[in-house]
Amino acid sequence: MRAISQDEYGTPEVLKETELPRPEPGPSEILVSVRAAGLNPTDWKHRAHRVFLDRLPLVLGWDVSGVVEAVGYGVTLFKPGDEVFGMLPYPHGVGAHAEYVTGPARAFTHKPASIDHVQAGALPLAALTAWQALVDTARVQPGQRVLVHAAAGGVGHLAVQIAKSLGAYVIGTASAPKHEFLRSLGADEVIDYRSVDFRDAVRDVDVVLDPLSGDTRVRSLDVLRPGGVLVSLLPGADPEEGAKAEARGVRVETLLVEADQAGMKALAELAASGALRAHIEEVFPLPEAAKAHALGETDRTTGKIVLVVDAS
Ligand SMILES: NC(=O)c1ccc[n+]([C@@H]2O[C@H](COP(=O)([O-])OP(=O)(O)OC[C@H]3O[C@@H](n4cnc5c(N)ncnc54)[C@H](OP(=O)(O)O)[C@@H]3O)[C@@H](O)[C@H]2O)c1
Repeated sequence: MRAISQDEYGTPEVLKETELPRPEPGPSEILVSVRAAGLNPTDWKHRAHRVFLDRLPLVLGWDVSGVVEAVGYGVTLFKPGDEVFGMLPYPHGVGAHAEYVTGPARAFTHKPASIDHVQAGALPLAALTAWQALVDTARVQPGQRVLVHAAAGGVGHLAVQIAKSLGAYVIGTASAPKHEFLRSLGADEVIDYRSVDFRDAVRDVDVVLDPLSGDTRVRSLDVLRPGGVLVSLLPGADPEEGAKAEARGVRVETLLVEADQAGMKALAELAASGALRAHIEEVFPLPEAAKAHALGETDRTTGKIVLVVDAS
């Protein structure tokens, strides 16, 4: 099979189209013929240097949308020909930027017929992250005030839609040219983080979703009401954070996304209902993975970048 592989860490040029043996599904696994696979910042981080994986050569990619080619021993949920989408177990299950990939059957769910593979391939990692942050961790309730940082990004724009579907009042940060986009997703308020300190624009927030960390993470504590929660997607560095959070009566959680069939089913329902839709910034054919990485690394994209493996 064709795959995008790297023998060393580095710039996008280390990504090479390679012929590899087609994997076999083990017990409880399915073999998926990949049609589309989303790209996430963790792909270019893992390409550039060792993050969680100590493995070269390496085939990247956690997002999968495709067709079940074969099932391993004991799999009852799927049969060959089923259209599925899911996130491979993060981080060790990686390998979707290829014509075929294997993964645990229970990392996947059926793809709704009403969304195509590009749409389904864009969703899993970013939408599961938003779901696990807002639903499983923060338990957002109707009427709560939710602040989403980097709201135009892959995670952020899906988080805005998920928070709206939960009945929340949603505030998003983005540069001014992206405000209309955020409003079209249902954001109730938008903040231009480049010209305004968000602490001067918003207060009494129940939940902050922060994909940025750094200074944004610690400043976010100032806008939470007592009892509120900050869900961060990257480690914090401020040694004063714990004391500050305790003094303000707020909770700080750092989340790492997990493969999650229950979450995938919930996302499939939302997508099928039209309440959740990935904005696609650009689609690249698999051999152009390096170009896709270079675009993603600009940190300025809106929504998702997707690799199309086989559109048939
Ligand atoms: N812990 C986990 O499990 C997990 C899961 C998913 C993602 N993440 C991490 O979360 C981060 C975001 O991921 P992503 O997929 O959403 O990335 P992304 O799609 O590449 O994010 C790009 C967006 O970030 C916005 N942005 C950049 N700096 C900003 C700032 N200071 N304030 C507001 N918006 C800003 C940009 O908007 P403008 O052009 O308007 O600046 C752009 O639209 C990455 O570091 C990723 O690794 C972690």
